Amino acid sequence: MEKNTVSMRGKNILGLADFSADEIKLVLETAKEMKNIIHRDIKKVPALRGKSIVTLFYEPSTRTRTSFELAAKYLGADVVNITAGTSSIVKGESLRDTLYTVEAMGVDAIVMRHKAEGAAEYASKVVSPVILNAGDGAHAHPSQGLLNLFTIQQHKGRLAGRKVAILGDVLHSRVARSDIYGMRTMGMEVHIAGPKTLLPRYLYEEPGIVVHERIEDAIKDADVIEVLRIQLERMKGGLFPTTREYARIFGLNDRRLRLAKDDVLILHPGPMNKGWEIAPSVAYGDNSAIQEEVQNGVAVRMALYTLVLTGGKQA
Ligand code: CP
Repeated sequence: MEKNTVSMRGKNILGLADFSADEIKLVLETAKEMKNIIHRDIKKVPALRGKSIVTLFYEPSTRTRTSFELAAKYLGADVVNITAGTSSIVKGESLRDTLYTVEAMGVDAIVMRHKAEGAAEYASKVVSPVILNAGDGAHAHPSQGLLNLFTIQQHKGRLAGRKVAILGDVLHSRVARSDIYGMRTMGMEVHIAGPKTLLPRYLYEEPGIVVHERIEDAIKDADVIEVLRIQLERMKGGLFPTTREYARIFGLNDRRLRLAKDDVLILHPGPMNKGWEIAPSVAYGDNSAIQEEVQNGVAVRMALYTLVLTGGKQA
């Protein structure tokens, strides 16, 4: 196998649209090594000793914020968390001034989640620490896209040629956007289905994406199914009749699951609306890798820190 010579040192992680296949492969290779550290009794290596990282979250998070924090700690970095509700943001401090303030403290990286699309890119233009986008509006969630690819690779080995069905609320999903870029770059076949009101127009014109009217057609013979969360908090009006109706027409249940390959892998970025977009029996069933995604999130974020802050695998 050819050695991957790509370097990601200093790269801002803004979205998977600007990741090459070699960069994605490097993250996945590095994450595999990082996962070993998580399984050790003493989860601590000095790869990022002397580095300092701030997580800056303007929107709620359980998985992403915690895993970025744990990933930094496992690698020996100093990490401080800022959340909008408990900082000077509540006194009206602007995003730019908050970024300047954090930069002035000498940090090496800022992990940032914000409701505005483009907020992470803006941050990368106004301050010097490396920016890792932990979700900006409905635009991008690159570390989630990478952890999805890592989870698929751990189960399926090869990514190219695998059929993935992405189901549900694509319109509001930054995860779906990052998935679509990453999966296409890695040669996967991307199939999409959901209520028409929740499928953005651009999908129909994108090369390498098949949009289906019925979710059964997307699921048929799929290697991977990713169910998206219905994002009620981002919806302005009634984009579908009722959650009960949604579950009936678009929910992933055991009956529909049987249309996919026997060893189909089920993903969901979380948190789940169980009984709406996914039946509990599917979410916790034998094909589900939803809990594993959470653990892989720590490994992938360790890989990202290592690659952007040191340029290499030093664990
Ligand atoms: N997947 C995801 O982004 O989850 P959190 O909102 O809990 O971080």
